[in-house]
Amino acid sequence: MSKKKRVLILENIHALARDLFIQAGFEVEQVKTALNTEELKTKLKDFDVLGIRSKTQITKEVIANAQHLETIGCFCVGTNQVDLDAANSFGIPVFNAPFSNTRSVAEMVIGEIVMLSRQLGTRNNEMHRGTWNKKSDKCFEVRGKTVGIVGYGNIGSQVSYLAEGMGMRVVFYDINSKLPLGNAKPMPSLAELLAESDVVTFHVPETQFTHEMMGPEEMKAMKPGAFLINASRGKVVQIPSLISNLKSGHIGGAAIDVFPTEPEGNTDGFKVELQNLNNVILTPHIGGATEEAQGNIGREVAALLISYLKDASTQMCVNFPKIDLTKDPKNHRIINIHKNVPGVLKDINRIISESGANIQAQALSTDATIGYLIIDLDQPIQNKMISEINGLKTSIRTRVI
Ligand code: NAI
Repeated sequence: MSKKKRVLILENIHALARDLFIQAGFEVEQVKTALNTEELKTKLKDFDVLGIRSKTQITKEVIANAQHLETIGCFCVGTNQVDLDAANSFGIPVFNAPFSNTRSVAEMVIGEIVMLSRQLGTRNNEMHRGTWNKKSDKCFEVRGKTVGIVGYGNIGSQVSYLAEGMGMRVVFYDINSKLPLGNAKPMPSLAELLAESDVVTFHVPETQFTHEMMGPEEMKAMKPGAFLINASRGKVVQIPSLISNLKSGHIGGAAIDVFPTEPEGNTDGFKVELQNLNNVILTPHIGGATEEAQGNIGREVAALLISYLKDASTQMCVNFPKIDLTKDPKNHRIINIHKNVPGVLKDINRIISESGANIQAQALSTDATIGYLIIDLDQPIQNKMISEINGLKTSIRTRVI
């Protein structure tokens, strides 16, 4: 009987992940904290799977030392903490949870649209200071207003769906062509979106093109009194221009969840010139921070890792050629990760054909560095065949499922 796969999960990953691994027949060891390079080099020698969050740094040195490691799961949205190129060249696919907190961000943004329209942040502060300031001046319903969504990806499109449910008109701008949900209307340019929107909300990634894409000119192009929301990345909106537009009243309010520089932890304190301005809601990068999102992350990433180990699917991974080939239970599956050079398929097929096995299904996908090959055979896989494939100079790793 084959040895149980061993999974090491660090950084207090949600218990759902551990439960799924155990149900799938794996052995799990949990460590509450992150580990440093030296600790990882020692510890990883015995594990096939590693689960981390954002604090564990996986360098080339760590990867090169982890001889049994087959895959890494980042139980979070980002994957910057892993040297993805090194993992690729050592044949280690890396998975993450890109959609796990989408809905959490979208719901927060919807709440903020209502809060800004009704000046609820300011009224709340006044009441806590003992001021009763009942007024309707510059307080609005959201029904019938236009929300302009910049970046119509996972989060932007969810905001669109929810905003229409509240009777809002939705326009959006995206550099890529996107299927509008409901009656949402794509806009040909950011300028045209700004000219029509009562609320502008950003849901773009951080790139050289989105860096301060909302600067003084763009703010000037907004409707007087319109609101601005940024729950995407801190450098998308130019903060000094936002402050002067809020002070002049040209922008009627803002909700900012992300900042150009953010503290490392909750004990570090935080100062930004947006503090104490009227109708400005400031939150500490909590758009995606819900218990549901944490649960989703645990479930989604564990499921992706299990699917890779049991079926070889790399469909959702971030650094590897993609294959998702359904396996007929009668067949026996080999996966081979190899250097992307000419002649590999010929060599592997020759070894298989010399063994007398018949190939029932085969899929190959490549990137600039490696090839990922899945082969399904009609008979149990012989050790001799695997050691011959592994012995090819081009092979990085070969495994039987
Ligand atoms: P996504 O990749 O699904 O969508 C981003 C969209 O922006 C894509 O449709 C893309 O085509 C579009 N885009 C890229 N460059 C653009 C440009 N220059 N102009 C217009 N559109 C552009 O990403 P997702 O999951 O919707 O996330 C959006 C942002 O939200 C990311 O920056 C992410 O880091 C951030 N985020 C923030 C969280 C928080 O806690 N506040 C939690 C989760 C994500």
